[in-house]
Amino acid sequence: MSFARLPNKHSFKENILQPRALLVASEAIPLVKTGGLADVITALACELKRNHVDVSILLPGYPCALDAAENLKEAGYLPDLPGGPGKLYQGTIAEYDDVSVLLLDTPNFRKRLVNPYVDHDGNEYQDNAASFAALSHAAVAICAGKTSVPVPHVVHANDWHAGLIPALLHVAGIQRVGTVLTIHNLAFQGNYPMDLAESLGLPESLLGPDGMEFWGKMSFLKAGIRYADRISTVSESYAKEILTPRFGCGLDGILNERKDAIVPIPNGIDINTWDPETDPMIKHRFSRKDLRHKSTCKQELQKLFKLQSLADAPLMALGSRITHQKMADLALESLPGLLEKHPRLQVAVLGCGDHEYEHGFAELAKRYPGRVGVHIGYDEQRAHALHAGADMLLHGTRFEPFGLTPIYSMRYGTIPVASRVGGIIDTIPDAGLNGTPPQGACGVLFDGETADAMGAAVDRAIALYEQPAVWLEMQRHSMSCDFSWNGPVRKYIDMYRQVAPQSVRHLFAAALVQPVEDYAELPVYTAAA
Ligand code: ADP
Ligand code: GLC
Repeated sequence: MSFARLPNKHSFKENILQPRALLVASEAIPLVKTGGLADVITALACELKRNHVDVSILLPGYPCALDAAENLKEAGYLPDLPGGPGKLYQGTIAEYDDVSVLLLDTPNFRKRLVNPYVDHDGNEYQDNAASFAALSHAAVAICAGKTSVPVPHVVHANDWHAGLIPALLHVAGIQRVGTVLTIHNLAFQGNYPMDLAESLGLPESLLGPDGMEFWGKMSFLKAGIRYADRISTVSESYAKEILTPRFGCGLDGILNERKDAIVPIPNGIDINTWDPETDPMIKHRFSRKDLRHKSTCKQELQKLFKLQSLADAPLMALGSRITHQKMADLALESLPGLLEKHPRLQVAVLGCGDHEYEHGFAELAKRYPGRVGVHIGYDEQRAHALHAGADMLLHGTRFEPFGLTPIYSMRYGTIPVASRVGGIIDTIPDAGLNGTPPQGACGVLFDGETADAMGAAVDRAIALYEQPAVWLEMQRHSMSCDFSWNGPVRKYIDMYRQVAPQSVRHLFAAALVQPVEDYAELPVYTAAA
């Protein structure tokens, strides 16, 4: 192997043969988002691009995505997809470094005006199986060279929505594309009745227990787990947890069989979007060195959530999907007692999800006017105001593959009170429930799934808040943790290198050794040498 030096940035763009990756997912900011997956897909694509990987994101062509993408041009017509023919459009996401995006426009995806997965009443769309099977078939058509999109060297499927891709590539006998499946959430599996198989273009050979059969149904996620070259999880701890019955969601058996293929790669965060020094969505900026304006942000938050304007009242935020996973039930059980016990405690809730829990929070706000403020809905600006203005974030969760929300809060010196599960174990150094917090502590963690455990952790956080020097120390630590994508993106590129066809592995290896900023120093691999 030999490397030739490139003279300048211009010739790099013209000459180098870049490794190609296709990310397939159901969400990516700013085109469509219901949760952390959307943040991660776009951020990862941008980082791969910065690191010289030629990357595209393949997404469903929801109306909002077709509207928001730029420079769309047709890149293929796919007449035989489940659920009807599809058109493939290629465009860019201008706001995010012009990263390339492919949108699969089908009659089913066109109908999704409000939410990508459920209708107005919160019921799954009847055509979800056909629609997401179509997304996987489209990815396979790209890999087979049936569109004008260059064939990728690696296809990276995310969650069940793209889980069929490795299985369909296997059936099609396409070996020149390596496959990776990332599990962002094992609880959502895409399980559908077997009798749909034929209409989804899934041959008999995939449907046995050694394939995608799961308790008499077909599982899109199991198909990915079974056939992907590598399976990645979004944190080290979640990689271990999913091998156990408690967190394995019934798939721990097959995951244990494929243990050697599991690669944990923690997420990064977009450190520019979530930065209290530059955030355009908050009214007053502050930093780790100068936290004075955090109290101004607190006043703003109190106004926004109709809370009493009290500078030294401990203000606790809750900001996530309001669901059983995120322990909304336990928060509703513990909060009344906590509000009685701590007469100055204030609570600001932002989120949406289960109607029953949403109603519970609305009732709590009525019962404690001026002390509990609730906004039911999805609101990016309010999310920034919440992280900037609160003192602490209550983030109970029954499982958490990674957990972006508590990390966003830590960036703003808002101390998380969170469950000791998944990515949280790896990212939040714990103050412990008693005594002086150890050096570097950034949050308060609790075990188990009880309102008492949650309540005890909030008691502890309030006790720490009442010791200003200790609290400030924790805030400063939490604001200085490194959650950038620099480390994770290199792990992804290395994983892609391992699964890519032998003949192009050197391209991924070269991307790994090349400095991102200094194009003049870029080595070019010359295959002939
Ligand atoms: P999950 O993906 O399981 O919901 P994460 O914490 O990893 O959990 O990611 C959640 C993402 O969704 C974060 O970007 C968070 O800011 C955002 N989010 C969740 N609910 C809301 C809401 N009601 N308004 C604005 N952003 C929200
Ligand atoms: C999922 C997980 C969350 C993770 C996100 C991005 O939605 O629930 O923990 O942060 O994916 O990977």
